[in-house]
Amino acid sequence: MGLNPHGGDHQKDKKNMIDFSVNVHPLGFPQGLKEIFNEQVDLLPFYPEIDGLHAREELADVLQLSRDEIILGNGAVELIYLYARLCRGKNILIIGPTFNEYERAFRLAGANVSLFTTREEEQFSLSIPRLETVLKERPEVEVVVLCHPNNPTGAGVIRIEEFLEVVGDREVLVDESFWEFTELDSFLPFINEKRILVLRSMTKFYALAGLRVGYGCGSKELIARMVNGKEPWTLNQFALASIPHLIRAEQYQKEVREWVNSEKQIFLQALKSEPSWTVYPGHANFVLVKFPFNLIPIREKMKEKGMYFRICTDFQNLGPNFGRFTIRDHKEGVALIKHLGGELK
Ligand SMILES: Cc1ncc(COP(=O)(O)O)c(C=O)c1O
Repeated sequence: MGLNPHGGDHQKDKKNMIDFSVNVHPLGFPQGLKEIFNEQVDLLPFYPEIDGLHAREELADVLQLSRDEIILGNGAVELIYLYARLCRGKNILIIGPTFNEYERAFRLAGANVSLFTTREEEQFSLSIPRLETVLKERPEVEVVVLCHPNNPTGAGVIRIEEFLEVVGDREVLVDESFWEFTELDSFLPFINEKRILVLRSMTKFYALAGLRVGYGCGSKELIARMVNGKEPWTLNQFALASIPHLIRAEQYQKEVREWVNSEKQIFLQALKSEPSWTVYPGHANFVLVKFPFNLIPIREKMKEKGMYFRICTDFQNLGPNFGRFTIRDHKEGVALIKHLGGELK
């Protein structure tokens, strides 16, 4: 099985591309991190902590969990694959269209994957009654996978308790990699009441895709099972040393949230100038848009002009008329809309 396509696959000079395809905001990472990296250079002859104990303790303090309810990953994606390996032979239901690594991870792990599709005519929101019907018809489903908010539709579960009731005693993988951008409630308070693994990523909200840091939270029993299946030293010491700094960067967190929110409102307003486009604003730092034309040829022309975005051809039930755009400075957003709206068509 080859690797999946993702945003950021334009292979052009990264710093000079106005890249709407990667869901990372353009504000840069928090101040003080370079100094932390510099300090770590002298420690390179030594192994990093094998269990990331110090970073887990700091995370536990901020999240009000115990350190044994947290596992660290080389990005959230490591934990998706690790969890999937625990599910060999199990029946998995993935709520889609969604991030393509879940399906790949579970298939590679030898699980049986099926998909529950949210509908365009329901704005891709999750219909809990329909999910309930499907789960009643399919009692063999053992694990449900939910992305909250979802990539690429931005949909989030508003009534978490209703969702959990319908899911019953099945295990749930909830990917909250974009949660920090939103006003949505988290699944975190339910990790001991229900059989849930909540994943978070430091890639998106802290603009650190290259560092590779994510973490998972679950009951002690679930985390212990994951630790048993984990490779050692998957986080290097730059990643481990940055975690305590990132989770306590409250001013930065506030600024990112406010900036993304306000740029998103302006971008959404500008998108209204083209009434034939259907906009799915969602809860995250990106928006999904359906166009009355195929985006593939126009993206080629825009790439030449140094602008790139994600086309949703590889997402279940979407296709080449759907584009996903991360929130950037609204002036760039307006230029993008002009190109898409005619200049390059
Ligand atoms: C929903 C979702 N989860 C996880 C990831 C991967 O996150 P990380 O960079 O922390 O591995 C992505 C990356 O795009 C994503 O969209």
